[in-house]
Amino acid sequence: MSTIFAEVPEAPADAIFGVKVKFDACKLPKKYLLSVGVYRTEEGKPYVFPAVAKAEEKIMHKYHKDYLPMEGDPNFIKVARELLWSDSVLSKFGSNIASIQSCAGTGGLFMISAFAKQYLKCPKVLLSNPMWPNYRSIFEGEGNEIGLYPWAKNCVLDLEGCVKSLLEAPEGCLVVLQACAHNPTGIDPTAEQWPAILRAIDERHHIVVFDFAYMGYASGDMDVDASIIREYALSGHKFFVSFSFSKCLGLYGERIGCLHAVTNSVEEAKCVGSQFANVGRRSYSVCPQNGSYLATAVLTDPELTREWKEELKAVTGRIISIRNKFVDLLESKSGKSFEYIRNQRGMFALTGLTAEEVKILGEVEGVFIPNNGRISVPALNNSNVEFIAQAVVNVFARRP
Ligand code: LMR
Repeated sequence: MSTIFAEVPEAPADAIFGVKVKFDACKLPKKYLLSVGVYRTEEGKPYVFPAVAKAEEKIMHKYHKDYLPMEGDPNFIKVARELLWSDSVLSKFGSNIASIQSCAGTGGLFMISAFAKQYLKCPKVLLSNPMWPNYRSIFEGEGNEIGLYPWAKNCVLDLEGCVKSLLEAPEGCLVVLQACAHNPTGIDPTAEQWPAILRAIDERHHIVVFDFAYMGYASGDMDVDASIIREYALSGHKFFVSFSFSKCLGLYGERIGCLHAVTNSVEEAKCVGSQFANVGRRSYSVCPQNGSYLATAVLTDPELTREWKEELKAVTGRIISIRNKFVDLLESKSGKSFEYIRNQRGMFALTGLTAEEVKILGEVEGVFIPNNGRISVPALNNSNVEFIAQAVVNVFARRP
């Protein structure tokens, strides 16, 4: 008998998707899964933005199934650039920005990781602690060395620790930041705090990667959420942005995003873009097409764009109101302050529960979340929020 696979160990369960296995195995009569960051309606159902559904009707049978170009669909790239950068950046620096269609945010980050390993020779890739767990495999998997910078202390921003760590890191690291609605903490720097972080990055000549997966989810206003990135470009920095349409257009399974690199010149942009395309070609060849057609159909139709922005505001509004209700319940049931969760933004709430407490939350209370204590807030609704708040309070109450 052949033994070629005999030494292959089973990969560990995914930190986020793997939670469902524990949820499915749970025999408790009432149980809830709040792991993956996807929007859910008040009824707990997956949500297709009505503007996207209309776009889907519009594009039905419109396209053939040939391969897209290696850089992706040019019409999509045009609208993705306009959405992210706006005229303010494009009119000044547009021709220096390389943009390529990516398999959502993860695909863009993977391209940066491979590109960085080959061309940037950064001593380390610096990731936030706590981080979105997939970052480590994306960057380590391509052979980059990983360093951490503190992000949260007692579930609020550890600005001092973050700045200190960025200053102490070797010069020229790649620093992965999130523009808004930080995953997994929901902790965003204020307009007053961002400059301290970016100054430390400048001082050590680090290179920024903005992972931008939650445009619109922090403030409800897409331009406000993009402002940190646009300002960074306007102040002359050279950096990367991996933009995802998974959350903002609800196109999770379509795998659609756009990777950008702000470079010094048209020539540099051409070379960098061509290397991105090379990474794509050797990993998945060319991007899937449906997501790009859907995004383009929404973003090239002013009426659909307007509808979508309104819908996104409503989605954000529901997340904010259910977050507040959750915090009200946590506070009334425990008599303690959970203001830190109220102040967090976007899809996630960092509860502060330890991995051991998360285990109890699942096994005893029937509420399943990833080990880092992150709750996917849209999974809360008026029918389950009371139960879930009580479960969290019960687990906190076990602390000595
Ligand atoms: C999440 O963090 O839950 C989402 O971004 C889904 C994923 O790919 O992990």
